[in-house]
Amino acid sequence: MNKETTKDVPDRNDFHSGVAVKLQNLTKEFVDKKGKVTVAVNNFNVTIPAGKLVGLLGPSGCGKSTTLYLISGLYKPNAGAIFFGDEDVTNTPPEKRGIGLVFQNYALYPHMTVRQNIMFPLENVRVPKKEAMVRAQKMAELVHIGDLMDRKPNQLSGGQQQRVAIARALVKEPRVLLLDEPLSNLDARLRLQTREEIRRIQKETGITTIFVTHDQEEAMSISDEIIVMNEGLKQQIGHPQDVYEDPVNMFVAKFLGNPPINIVPGKLKAGKCLLDNGALIDSGINQPDQDVFIGLRPEYLKLSDNGKIEATVDMVEHIGRDTMLICFLNGMDVKIRAIIPSEYRLVPGEQVKFECAKLFVFNKSTGERYK
Ligand SMILES: Nc1ncnc2c1ncn2[C@@H]1O[C@H](COP(=O)(O)OP(=O)(O)O)[C@@H](O)[C@H]1O
Ligand SMILES: [Mg+2]
Repeated sequence: MNKETTKDVPDRNDFHSGVAVKLQNLTKEFVDKKGKVTVAVNNFNVTIPAGKLVGLLGPSGCGKSTTLYLISGLYKPNAGAIFFGDEDVTNTPPEKRGIGLVFQNYALYPHMTVRQNIMFPLENVRVPKKEAMVRAQKMAELVHIGDLMDRKPNQLSGGQQQRVAIARALVKEPRVLLLDEPLSNLDARLRLQTREEIRRIQKETGITTIFVTHDQEEAMSISDEIIVMNEGLKQQIGHPQDVYEDPVNMFVAKFLGNPPINIVPGKLKAGKCLLDNGALIDSGINQPDQDVFIGLRPEYLKLSDNGKIEATVDMVEHIGRDTMLICFLNGMDVKIRAIIPSEYRLVPGEQVKFECAKLFVFNKSTGERYK
């Protein structure tokens, strides 16, 4: 039986899908008791496209939550503006912005049932009880907890509680859904499942969604676009794969990818990369000779008899489909990782040579990438 014919599930028409969120020169500072200033969000300029799921990604303390609270209206910026579509909402109070907010810790009311929790935002705006019940049930069906309405939060798993929190955030049919590390309290299996659920719910509703996480894999796997942030500053925005393959700087290159990119000190010499151990590799970069950092992603390294990068195997990790080699570059105190096909059977101490299909070159002092 087709579910859609038996249950009333909200669809795109119920949501104001299509509102872009534009942050313009947005700055937020905090001043502590001693007068020390923290610039949590520093002159942020970004447009989050309408109807997309965008991952806001960066290390702990980089300003992700602050950005989300600025968008929600819980914080007032020191400078800059926020637009929902063409509407300037910078001075609009949170309850008038049309946002739904979901936190890491669910923040459900423990004494209320699931139904009461989901209905709560509607009571605040005096939606008649009967209509509120119908809308709450619809949202519960959307997040697949329609049969748990009479339970209390402590009778639910973490993943189910997070679905209740999402239903509660959606029940007022907001223009923008904001999720602050929503999966962090879940165990690995539920985290995977719930992230697929969030992707599905976002697709079905078409609601513009901003998903905050410090987990690069999580952000890359579900986002239409990712925004990488560091120390309050926007680093890069783009399709996850594009950002991965074309990072603007060493921070972004290092933050994305598991196992992480190998960073090797070297020199740029007449457009070639010279490693400190004498290996010379083509770079295709047209820049004056200088000291640089060279970035080699583990999957860009290929074993080859003609390879210029010579190394000694230190460890071999069989990770199923592939094998991870951990090597020391000969003549250098630098460890690198390479992902190689599992057919290779290498042992520690063995000499290997790598070719590198692609590499990144970074300015040694600023980390900016040369292209
Ligand atoms: N209410 C606050 N008062 C003072 N400093 C704050 C406050 N909230 C956040 N900060 C500081 O702002 C920076 C960014 O914090 P936050 O936005 O919470 O980062 P993230 O969510 O990326 O971990 C941090 O240095 C943090 O200590
Ligand atoms: Mg945070």
